[in-house]
Amino acid sequence: MKKIKRYLVTSALPYANGPVHIGHLAGVYIPSDIYVRYLRLKGEDVLSICGSDEHGVPITIKARQEGVTPQDIVDKYHNIIKNAFKGLGISFDIYSRTSSPIHHKTASDFFLNLYNKGEFIEQTTMQYYDEEAKQFLADRYIVGTCPHCQNDRAYGDQCEKCGSTLNATDLINPKSAITGSVPVLKETKHWFLPLDKHEPFLRKWILEEHKEWKPNVYGQCKSWLDLGLQPRAVSRDLDWGIPVPLKGAEGKVLYVWFDAPIGYISATKELTPDWEKYWKDDETKLVHFIGKDNIVFHCIVFPSMLKAHGEFILPDNVPANEFLNLESDKISTSRNWAVWLHEYLEEFPGKQDVLRYVLCANAPETKDNDFTWKDFQARNNNELVAILGNFVNRAMVLTSKYFEGKVPIRGELTDYDKSCLDEIAKIKTALEENIENYKFREALKEAMNIARIGNKYLADTEPWKVIKENKERVATILNTALQITANLAIAIEPFMPFTAEKMLNLLQVTPLGWDKLGSPVILEEGHALGKPELLFEKIEDNVIEAQLKKLEETKAANLAKEVKAEPQKASISFDDFGKMDIRVAKVIAAEKVAKTKKLLKLTIDTGMDTRTIVSGIAEFYTAEEMVGKQIVILANLEPREIKGILSQGMILMAQDATGKLAVVAPEYNVKPGSSVG
Ligand code: 2FM
Ligand code: ZN
Repeated sequence: MKKIKRYLVTSALPYANGPVHIGHLAGVYIPSDIYVRYLRLKGEDVLSICGSDEHGVPITIKARQEGVTPQDIVDKYHNIIKNAFKGLGISFDIYSRTSSPIHHKTASDFFLNLYNKGEFIEQTTMQYYDEEAKQFLADRYIVGTCPHCQNDRAYGDQCEKCGSTLNATDLINPKSAITGSVPVLKETKHWFLPLDKHEPFLRKWILEEHKEWKPNVYGQCKSWLDLGLQPRAVSRDLDWGIPVPLKGAEGKVLYVWFDAPIGYISATKELTPDWEKYWKDDETKLVHFIGKDNIVFHCIVFPSMLKAHGEFILPDNVPANEFLNLESDKISTSRNWAVWLHEYLEEFPGKQDVLRYVLCANAPETKDNDFTWKDFQARNNNELVAILGNFVNRAMVLTSKYFEGKVPIRGELTDYDKSCLDEIAKIKTALEENIENYKFREALKEAMNIARIGNKYLADTEPWKVIKENKERVATILNTALQITANLAIAIEPFMPFTAEKMLNLLQVTPLGWDKLGSPVILEEGHALGKPELLFEKIEDNVIEAQLKKLEETKAANLAKEVKAEPQKASISFDDFGKMDIRVAKVIAAEKVAKTKKLLKLTIDTGMDTRTIVSGIAEFYTAEEMVGKQIVILANLEPREIKGILSQGMILMAQDATGKLAVVAPEYNVKPGSSVG
């Protein structure tokens, strides 16, 4: 076994094209934060590295959609993500970004190092080219029909409907997402990393020497290796990214998956002049925390790059998690199906640890898992409030009541007292074993078991009854309960740092190291405690209902987007069109039609006359809202009676796929009677 002197822990660099959501947190950032907090508590030398992944095609697409530059997009999301992580207590030593000059230089040099050693193959391939936009099209910029499921919105690299991985040339009727034109195939030169050459090394390193990796990680690596590795392009035709540092490579940048993992190195460099010790010394343990979609890049591609370079250590472990779903549906940034961290922090102030707890307790460590708001509420109310909060509060309140808030005399411990304290020492070992083997759910359960032991201890010893005849015994009981509380404060710190800090405050002690965990005497007799305060509060049904409503609205909005516009109606002649008298009118009075849900009676000024129109818009506009509005009407529609009222014409409304109506009106006020056509 190699000696470990220091730890270098990386967390996947999130793409800066959207905020971070609970899926990212449960998969990557909460586990990595638990791990590094644990190591720090143990006094280990550890660096926790992360930053924004700011290159890649999706960022350029988003920028194009929003009519801004890619730099604008990454600046916006880098800040949102960075602040949100901080708000949740994710304790990176650095949160850097890949658009930084230090990263550009590091990645560029890394490429050159491999290039100069002859580690790349140059290959000319045929790629789709948009002749109108005069640029090669990255896979994501080509849209067409999926050959497997006929989805007509499949991308050049993947069909999101059926999940198939595609080549751009597989698409039926390919179109450029930039101009909509039909792309042509054109020659282009790229640099490839010959993964096939590294295959024998990878097989030995992973399949023989890292059998201890999580089954999902090991299994994925094995299937990749068994399929046989192919050379992979490390450059792209794109104008956003790190330019390929070679003559004649204008218009080409490093592939985002080549530069992103090098971002871990650049960020370490930015953090400390000692960075080489962490990256190049065998006594460093390097651990990459990632989600399952990143396995191949961290276990196969990046290690091949590091190996080819020659100066760097390789990861000791890559504890990738599976995915978290939300209310049984796949989390999706583009469909806004997510609980966004920055929104959570605003909507649930002071409840960072509730989210940290729920996401760890329910982390998708071995299989995909589901986040539901009901489970969030249940875990808060039944576990954090009822177990953890309740125990700490009872120990504090009883001490305040019977011993003026001072740690009472320990006295003689019974066998039962001793056995409870002994159990905590055992929990320490279990906790360490689980955390060191990346089993954070189990570890959290063990930490919570300390609170369970505490609750049972108080229920069994009943100090509130014993006080009547034996205050000395109660002193021992509460001393023991407080020692359990102090142990609990240490054990939960990696998982719930905000609560741990509050507990240290309640106990009026400075941070306690991991070494103290398992010790029966942490607090000294006579030590004055702080005022009892509740650690958690119940989350009521209405709070959960509001979140569920928000998700329902997202679903409805997505549905509206997915429903395609109705096909065009049969052609009409210009004469037919000319028969319609369409003009602007102004609403001068409005009232609800009695005993109907949908109808408003509107009195309007048409410029020719004042007349009445009955319109089915009451579910979308109130009578008050309509008064004073300019509208567009079909004036010469045959009058008809609706609910006993003569309606003379029709108001033109826009209607979306969900049936929602919106008034059509001129962009600025015009004279009533103005014709429309
Ligand atoms: O999947 C992702 O979100 C990537 N941006 C992860 C990159 S990890 C590393 F290589 F930087
Ligand atoms: Zn498909």
